[in-house]
Amino acid sequence: MITTIEELRRWSRQQHNLQKKIGLVPTMGALHDGHLSLVKTANQCCNAVLVSIFVNPTQFGVNEDFHQYPRPLEDDLRLLQTVGSPEVFVPNTAEMYPAGFDVSVHVGGVSQPFEGQIRPAHFDGVATIVLKLFLASGADTAFFGQKDFQQVCVVRKMVDDLNIPVEIVVCPTIREPDGLAMSSRNKYLSKSQRLQAVVLSQSLTLAEKMITDEKIRDVETVRQKIRSKIETVPDIKIDYIGIVDPKTLHELTTINSDTVILIAAKIGTTRLIDNVLITTTS
Ligand code: PAF
Repeated sequence: MITTIEELRRWSRQQHNLQKKIGLVPTMGALHDGHLSLVKTANQCCNAVLVSIFVNPTQFGVNEDFHQYPRPLEDDLRLLQTVGSPEVFVPNTAEMYPAGFDVSVHVGGVSQPFEGQIRPAHFDGVATIVLKLFLASGADTAFFGQKDFQQVCVVRKMVDDLNIPVEIVVCPTIREPDGLAMSSRNKYLSKSQRLQAVVLSQSLTLAEKMITDEKIRDVETVRQKIRSKIETVPDIKIDYIGIVDPKTLHELTTINSDTVILIAAKIGTTRLIDNVLITTTS
């Protein structure tokens, strides 16, 4: 296990000297099958795989769950042994943000709507830590889950605009058998909330059917269907239902091309997000 940037740089140099391709899986720990699927994909593409585990304080708002966020490091390390024992980078906060640290990476455009509106500093924190991880690890390829669709857009934009030589690979969302998208935050749900949470993925499946099978093209009709499905569970508070262009995240009025539906909702104090990417032919 590597804990310092200096050590990580040394590891990275060694891998590149051995002509190895470094694959980075950035995580905040509390690993689940979604993370493990990223590592498995990384194992197929790269011969030096690094998983970072760091609960990044700068991407949490003041009233968010930074302190509560699960940190089961021993369990995480055990799980990683089941997927080929990648190298692991586990820095502490002072290592990533030493006293006097005063840089923030801001990505415009795609970071503004949805999560950006509700969590104003979130994507600056994500972009800053991801850039630091890219630079410290010398990653050739980095693996992210589609579950955090907007995060992927922000990271891609940063990589494109700053000409960062890291290839971004996006892996499918991994779901529980009933459809709930896997998330470290699912641990916060009580038994009854966990049962209710399935309505989020169900609403997306309904919307996908409306678009692909019934050929419904009016965005408001689809949005209303999603809303009324989620509202069958009175304890869920919807933050947003975005039906948008997957590249720009601009809202659509008619579905004529590839579309992503982004949803976020709160069940009790737990905030969950999910999305579905729909490719349309006409
Ligand atoms: O998706 C996450 O777990 C985090 O946002 C990331 C990319 C590891 C940055 O802290």
